[in-house]
Amino acid sequence: MTVKHKSYPVQKLAGLYWAYLGPEPAPLIPNFDIWFRKDGRRKIFIQPQLDCNWFQAMENSMDPAHLEILHQITAEPGRPIENSTRGLTDDVSAFDFYEVPYGLMKRRTYKSGMVDEHPVIFPNILRQGNSAQIRVPMDDTHTKVYFVRFFPAEDGTVAENEEVPVEYIRPYKHPPDALHPYAKFRMDLVQAQDHMAWETQGPIADRTRERLTSSDRGVVMLRQVMMREIKKLQEGQDPMGVVRDPRQNATMVDTFLTETIRQFAHIGDSAINQ
Ligand SMILES: [Fe+2]
Repeated sequence: MTVKHKSYPVQKLAGLYWAYLGPEPAPLIPNFDIWFRKDGRRKIFIQPQLDCNWFQAMENSMDPAHLEILHQITAEPGRPIENSTRGLTDDVSAFDFYEVPYGLMKRRTYKSGMVDEHPVIFPNILRQGNSAQIRVPMDDTHTKVYFVRFFPAEDGTVAENEEVPVEYIRPYKHPPDALHPYAKFRMDLVQAQDHMAWETQGPIADRTRERLTSSDRGVVMLRQVMMREIKKLQEGQDPMGVVRDPRQNATMVDTFLTETIRQFAHIGDSAINQ
């Protein structure tokens, strides 16, 4: 008798092993700037386990209004807050959302004239600042979050590191495996604030009890795109973002990495994941 173990194709890229668990043939890993730029170094940050469904983090990434409320004391440390209910909301003049070939873009336009625009790479990556935040579902109620951060070489020369350093982030809550309402979250870091907001919605958020408002247009758009792409998959088509043609993958896909690095350079780590 012969016993054959199930196996899947795996590719190493940017210090991570990427496994493909779908039907053959495996598609290509899209040529996003954050993985493929050679003029800098990368570092991986492994976040504490997120004890909720991965899509709660993705919905949050299409909700730009939360920055000015949830992150009001961490977005610009030291800035006085006059009213914690409105936070920094009055800085913003408009929120906009639109589709790009590889995902969804959200744009904040500030009254100062500054525009902050960064994409969700469909279906499970937020590209913001110098990072790609990859949310990998472990099961329906647990998620592993990997940050790949890119630090460009100042003089633009090739500085790619072959072995990418890895840092494990300490738990944001105590006890580290407790669920809401028994967990206490630290609230002095942007990413910890987000973990609190994601997990306290419950292991799988009950959307029948939510009250959406005009600034939730991005959340609605993400849900509609997800349902549309699931339908395409059910009909035998490739969903958004699947690349199979090497010629299509020959050039780098610009996810605004240069712009988002420049924009957040003065704020540093505190601007992660808005
Ligand atoms: Fe956030």
